[in-house]
Parts: sequence; C-alpha cells; structure tokens
Amino acid sequence: MANRKVLLILLALFGSTCALYKQWIPDTNFENATNWDKGSVPCGSDQVIFPTSAKVAVYVETAHTLSGMILPVNGEFILASGAGLSVIDGQDPSCGAGGTTYFRDPDSSKWFDPALWKAASSFDHLQSGPYLFFVHEEAVPCQHDDVVFRDGSSFRVDVSAHENSVPVKSVSVLGRRFGDNSDFSQYSSSHLGKLQFHGSSAVQISGLACSDVTGCECENSANRDRICLNVKCPQLDCKSPLNPVGHCCEICGAIVSIHFSDSFNIESYHQRLQHLFLSLSKYKPIKMAMSKVSITQRLLRFIPYAVTQEIQVVLLDENTGPQSGKLAEALAQDIIRDINAQGSHLGINSAELHASSGPSNGMSGGAVAGIILGILVLVAVLSLVVFLHHRGTLAKINLPSLIRWRQNSGIGELGGPLDHGFDNPMFEKQGNLPEIPGLYGPESLKSITLTQSGVHFVNPLYDETDFNA
Ligand SMILES: *[C@@H]1O[C@H](CO)[C@@H](O)[C@H](O)[C@H]1NC(C)=O
Repeated sequence: MANRKVLLILLALFGSTCALYKQWIPDTNFENATNWDKGSVPCGSDQVIFPTSAKVAVYVETAHTLSGMILPVNGEFILASGAGLSVIDGQDPSCGAGGTTYFRDPDSSKWFDPALWKAASSFDHLQSGPYLFFVHEEAVPCQHDDVVFRDGSSFRVDVSAHENSVPVKSVSVLGRRFGDNSDFSQYSSSHLGKLQFHGSSAVQISGLACSDVTGCECENSANRDRICLNVKCPQLDCKSPLNPVGHCCEICGAIVSIHFSDSFNIESYHQRLQHLFLSLSKYKPIKMAMSKVSITQRLLRFIPYAVTQEIQVVLLDENTGPQSGKLAEALAQDIIRDINAQGSHLGINSAELHASSGPSNGMSGGAVAGIILGILVLVAVLSLVVFLHHRGTLAKINLPSLIRWRQNSGIGELGGPLDHGFDNPMFEKQGNLPEIPGLYGPESLKSITLTQSGVHFVNPLYDETDFNA
C-alpha cells in the first residue's frame, strides 16, 4: 500500500495520472444476503442448494452451520481464514423453523452493464468515495483503466464483447494485481479464473496508462449496443433533451463542449471545476461527467466529413418538472464565464454551451436548417440566373440589385401570399419566438419567406422533434 502511494505521488509529479479505477460492484459472497433467494443469509436450520449447473466461486468469510447443503458440479468455495461450512443434524433455535434456500444464479452479471461498476480517481477512493460519474460507455472500464474486483469477495462476470478481447490497463483480483497479460491469461485459464471470467471474449491487460495529459478516449463505442441494452432511460421533462456522446439516454441539463490545445490538462481542469463550482453547496445535486470524445462532423446531418476531438462536460441535476436541468445550465454558464476569463491559461481555445431548456447552439437543427436553407437559396438563385439567361433578360438586371435582393431575402419580391411562414399556428402556439437565439437570427427568419417548403426548417416545433430523433 505504501509503495503504491509512493508510486502514485511519483506519477502525479510527472503529470501522467489520467488513471481511473473501476470497481466491480456485485459479488457471489456467501454472506451477502442479496445472493440468496430469500434475501437473507442461511443459518443453522436451513438447507442450502446451489443450482447443479452453477459455475461459481463463493467467498466465505466466517464459520457457518447448516442443516444440509447441495453443491454444484463445478463450483468452488474460497474460505477466508477462520471460515468454514459444517452440516449439523437438527434445528438451530436461534434460526427458527428453517427451510430451503437457493443461491442465486450469478450468470446474468455482464461486464458491459454500467450499473455494475463504480469509478474513482484513486484506489483509496474506491472504498469510500468520492465516486466519479461518467456517461454510460465510460462507466464500464475503458482501455486505460485499472479494474478492481474487491479484495475479500468472489464474483462471476460475463465478458462477452464485440471483439475477442476487452483491453484494460490492469486487473486486481482477491488482492492480487495483474499488470501483465501473460500472468493474467495464465490466471484466467485456471479453474478459479474460469469460474470468475466467462463469455466469448477475454480481458486483455495492456499495462498502459493514458500518456496524454489532455486525456484519452475511452474507446468503448464498439460495444455501445451491449452497454445500452442494460440501461433503462428515465422519463424527461425538458423541452430539448440533449444527447451526450457515449451516453445511452437523452438528458435534461447542459453540455459544455471544449476545444482544447496541447497545453490543456484534463485532470487539473477536472479539479478546477470541482474546486471552483461543484464544491459550492448550491451545486451539490449536480453530477458532472468529463471526458475526451470524438465528434463526427456531418454535413446535413448524414454525410460525415471530419472527426474532431473535444472535451465533453456533461452536467445533470436531480430536479424534475419545469426546473429539470436548470441548475445544471446555471453551472454551465458559470463554466463558460470562467473559460472566457481564464481559457487561454487553461489551454482552452473555445467552448460551446448546449442547454436542454431551449434550442441549443452548435450543430443543432438550427445550423442544419441554415445549411439547407443556404443551399436552397443558392439553387434558387442559380436557376433564376439560368432561366433569365435563357430568356436573354439577364443583361437587363444589374448585379447590385441582385445582391440586394438576396440580402433582403425577397420580402419585397416574394412576399405577399408566401408570407404565411409567420402565421403558422404551430409557430404561434409554441409561444417561444423571443427565445429563438441569434443562431436562427433575423436573417434566417426572413429567409423563411423565400420558399414555402422552407418554412418547416426553422419552425421550432420541427426543430424539437428533430432533435429528439
Ligand atoms: C451485496 O451484493 C450487492 C449486489 O450484488 C451489492 O450491491 C452489495 O454491495 C453487496 N453487499 C456487500 C456488503 O458487499
């Protein structure tokens, strides 16, 4: 332990502790009441039955007496010192009438179930917190994480994955740490190892920490379907739920997308936000997930043209109803103010705020609508030019007036009957015209009159459903 601390301090000095610890929560311990079908640990008058086909190692911490026991064909007990199981004839008065208790089949516990892991920034914090919050894909172990199966516990985990191997930095089992793949594969092919790790893939140990101070990507997206299969999304109350990268559910809250430079340090920035904001009592109910993610830039939402990396800061609060996400948005605004003031010292080039209470900025429906509208305008102008050219009237129109026509968005020329864009009843009912931010802008609002079919692109109702999709 002392050695580990010295090592951690050394690593901290060299600034390369992007290390994260992920600990497996369930166990197959004899003393854990949740492992028995009756919800209590069997005692002296009880007969216990392990399903014949159960392949399980069971950790036993203390001495137990039972009135009978049926063992599986392929199991194993791990006895702590002083622990034991003995079968006595007759009743144990302190245990009551007794009965038959079944050990639950542990085969259903999946490595890629985000609810079965907890995360912390150090080995010590795994025991008592603070625990870290992550988007679903990163709640399960990432490629550079240290994976811990708690000492003094047995477990069984289904490691079935998209690929043959599931890479992590290290694995600790029963107090023994494996930082080398040949040691670990030897262990996992032992009898006990096979009871603990089963499924179609194998955990593979790289021994490699994240060596990029700006952060490393988790790289679990290949297993996204597997991960999200285990997640049940909550009902949402906000107007424009957000879709964080790596998360299985839409959220009410805020996302700050940070464009960083080489001098950015994800760990110290995490600490800064913790220290400056999250430690304030007003922000206590907020959960923050920060990580480096890849964003695929798409033209018109479908055609990918580039992949960029950014730091995604996801902020969630526990409020529901009309207040849902509002506190998280307030914090996001504080973070943006801090970036505006200090960003250049922090290695931050720019940042965007996406909020669930209204149309967000960035590549949202609004930007897409803008692009589509731009193309429509271009096509309209080109066909007009071609048409006029054909009729030989082009020479009669002077260029400045053509430009002015585009700037005025044709209110004069194309107004009249087409002006219905503003009278759209859906538009009115929504009653949020003033909330439409600069992005939609007066220009694009005017552009609405250009073409009847263009109306729906800036209708906020459309935008909302589109974002939900
Ligand atoms: C018992 O198991 C449950 C679920 O597997 C787990 O959440 C809990 O922490 C365990 N209890 C103890 C005391 O370890």
